[in-house]
Amino acid sequence: MTEQTLSIIKPDAVERNLENDIKNFFEKNNLKIIKTKKVKISKEESSDFYKVHQTKPFYIDLCNYLSSGPIVVMILEGENAVKKNRQLMGATDPKKAEEGTLRKMYGLSIDKNSIHGSDSIENAKIEINFFFK
Ligand code: CDP
Ligand code: MG
Repeated sequence: MTEQTLSIIKPDAVERNLENDIKNFFEKNNLKIIKTKKVKISKEESSDFYKVHQTKPFYIDLCNYLSSGPIVVMILEGENAVKKNRQLMGATDPKKAEEGTLRKMYGLSIDKNSIHGSDSIENAKIEINFFFK
């Protein structure tokens, strides 16, 4: 089934000029970028975006981080896009990510792991609406 999902190139990857490499990787793997923009969000916006994690010990650092510099947000579209994107990203911790995944290739650490991707069709809709309403 053709789906849409939200992807974010996080500040560590934007800072290292990985935007084009990551976009090419998605396109090569049959996820089409149908909308994209570079933005810098506020602490309030990042706290809202990541509110599902508000009880986690890493929440404050995570929100500070996502709002620390420019990010690139994208709507990806393709067959099973949500799951496909999660597979292409790899595990949250780059040290545990499989060979050939974005986080294995580019992630620096569990917090600076270069990329975000929606984890369900339902959350994809919410996250797409957050950035592209
Ligand atoms: O991004 P993903 O869905 O793989 O992981 P998550 O469990 O939803 O966590 C969201 C983000 O929080 C991760 O991508 C990490 O950047 C960060 N995180 C962290 O800094 N420390 C952890 N122990 C777990 C997650
Ligand atoms: Mg997640």
